[in-house]
Amino acid sequence: MKIAQRIETVPPYLFAEIDRKKEEAIKRGVDIINLGIGDPDQPTPNNIIEKLRESVKDPETHDYPPYAGTAEFRQAVALWYKNRFRVDLDPDNEVMALIGSKEGIAHIFLAFIDPGDFSLIPDPGYPVYKTGTLFANGFPYVMPLLEENGFLPNLEEIDEEIVRKVKLMFINYPNNPTGAVADKSFFEKVVKFAKKYDILVCHDFAYSEMTYDGYKANSFLEVDGAKDVGLEFHSLSKTYNMTGWRLGFVVGRAEAISALSIIKTNVDSGAFKAIQRAGVEALSGPQDNIERMNEIYTRRRDIVINGLNKLGWNLKPIKASFYIWIPTLNNMSSMDFANLLLEKAGIIVSPGIGYGEYGEGYVRIALTVEKKRLEEAVRRIKNLKL
Ligand SMILES: Cc1ncc(COP(=O)(O)O)c(C=O)c1O
Repeated sequence: MKIAQRIETVPPYLFAEIDRKKEEAIKRGVDIINLGIGDPDQPTPNNIIEKLRESVKDPETHDYPPYAGTAEFRQAVALWYKNRFRVDLDPDNEVMALIGSKEGIAHIFLAFIDPGDFSLIPDPGYPVYKTGTLFANGFPYVMPLLEENGFLPNLEEIDEEIVRKVKLMFINYPNNPTGAVADKSFFEKVVKFAKKYDILVCHDFAYSEMTYDGYKANSFLEVDGAKDVGLEFHSLSKTYNMTGWRLGFVVGRAEAISALSIIKTNVDSGAFKAIQRAGVEALSGPQDNIERMNEIYTRRRDIVINGLNKLGWNLKPIKASFYIWIPTLNNMSSMDFANLLLEKAGIIVSPGIGYGEYGEGYVRIALTVEKKRLEEAVRRIKNLKL
């Protein structure tokens, strides 16, 4: 048996050591506080669950769904975009359902990257941008996201010779793992850049609704000309606490969606129709749970930021996402710091190096546990006397 070389290109799984230590600690009876996973701890809102229950019973939902998603779901997406961002989308050509946004993000590279082509990806960044490029035998070229630039890439700094080989670039705001946000003027720069070099822009907008202190995130597609160069990937996972349901969508340039659909029609057969009906309920039904969740995350954020700042950090409150990107102390590597927190405090965090080389020197925590547990985590870190 000979495994394909493509598998060997996948970077080593950096969380393996942490996972092993976590298992050992659990066996020893350690009370673990897991801040490592970006998975909402609160349930899916009841109206969405009820819609699924009712839809599952309807035999009409039991057959193969249309490849692009049901007409009803695509219309609900278009309406949601219109209401939320004032962006017009044609539900027939500019919207496609995904089996979670990760599915579409992973597959878009197969639709645009030929062997030897370059992609531009943020570093630190969601790991699928890199592996997606590698699976298509392309070269992922990193755009460093540095704190001094507000974790936005500096497009002028990218080597022009490389840029000419780039077919596709990913950006992601509100950002995982840094929690940074981008404004319209940044998106305008990206549109100009993409037009000049004929690059498809993919904006990963998974955290669009997770925002605080009155901040509202802009869609990339609000910018003039964005639809000519770009796609926006979206997810019901974080907005509606639906990570396990696997439902997302992509919107934007019709030709790009059509290219992605060629890959998808040969890989999957769409999301379960009953789940799409529940997705329509999520997008068109009451939205008050989003506000409620954001209040919960704001309170959790404040506990962590205020608590850690009292211990010597200098963290600014994030305006969006549920991640806090924390510099390690005493020049420790992200892996050493994560190991220390696990071994000495029973706290799991994600080492920054897992998100790329520019993630070194940071760890990410996710605000996905109750307030009391976050208070306890801060207390344990205080007791470490770092
Ligand atoms: C930046 C980013 N994009 C995409 C996803 C994928 O989300 P889903 O496939 O659940 O829609 C995640 C999940 O954590 C993420 O952090």
